[in-house]
Amino acid sequence: MCVEKMSTIVAVAGKGGTGKTTVAGLLIRYLQQNSQTPILAVDADPDSNLPEALGMTGEKTVGTIGRTREDFFVNRGQVPAGMPKEAYLELKLSQVLVEAKDIDLMVMGRPEGAGCYCYINNVLRKHLEILGKNYPYVIIDNEAGLEHLSRRTAQDIDFLVIVSDYSLNGLRASVRIKKLSDEMKLNVKAHCLIINCAPESVSPRFLEEVDKTGLPLLGFMPEDKTVPQYDIERKPLISMPDDSPVVTAINPIAIKIFQEGKQ
Ligand SMILES: Nc1ncnc2c1ncn2[C@@H]1O[C@H](COP(=O)(O)OP(=O)(O)OP(=O)(O)O)[C@@H](O)[C@H]1O
Ligand SMILES: [Mg+2]
Repeated sequence: MCVEKMSTIVAVAGKGGTGKTTVAGLLIRYLQQNSQTPILAVDADPDSNLPEALGMTGEKTVGTIGRTREDFFVNRGQVPAGMPKEAYLELKLSQVLVEAKDIDLMVMGRPEGAGCYCYINNVLRKHLEILGKNYPYVIIDNEAGLEHLSRRTAQDIDFLVIVSDYSLNGLRASVRIKKLSDEMKLNVKAHCLIINCAPESVSPRFLEEVDKTGLPLLGFMPEDKTVPQYDIERKPLISMPDDSPVVTAINPIAIKIFQEGKQ
């Protein structure tokens, strides 16, 4: 019997400022345009602007719910009589979800206070696993570095999309991220690479270096002046025109991830 897989989970990683949020936003845009919905967008970067990229607000964050058992069950309100504690927690987490047409957004935020986040992280991981099953596509925008991936959102990841800039340093960082994900034993089915802000003509030497990373190259994204322009004008990235260079570039990349990747 063929059991159809429920959702495709894509996590976007990379070193700081390489274009992770831009790529995550554009992948979500692609899915929405192609009616491959509903999408669960997860903003796993405390400093991220994924909500803005999607034209949504991320005021309610998982981090504000609490960090410890006490936060959940004592400091932040009473569990209604007769309700199991875990169910109450699930309810609180579901209230954090920002819902819009086609896209639901979960913002992790920054948990308050110092100390161990094990409890919230465990709850969250389980919650995301359950929640993710309701969506055919889950896109996770990560902060630079990967540690939190295992702590907070690790689950079966179909594609770990690593975004690099057009530099050898960017490629080296991408390889480190791949190694880290192996060391952390993240359950990643495929790693792949996107080079962002690439020049029109890519040097053959650079391609050789890409080859040496061993990471399958999904494609290049050009520098596109509409991207910072949208940012400055506070326009959501998701509403960029079809003919803008980054949108044109992301389409074949998205097809590789969402269509060919399913086969
Ligand atoms: N292809 C592009 N063309 C022009 N500008 C771009 C492009 N991609 C990203 N940018 C700009 O570069 C900056 C960083 O992009 P982005 O926020 O997507 O990176 P990031 O990897 O998510 O950063 P961080 O590590 O801070 O989360 C932003 O100002 C964005 O507008
Ligand atoms: Mg970002």
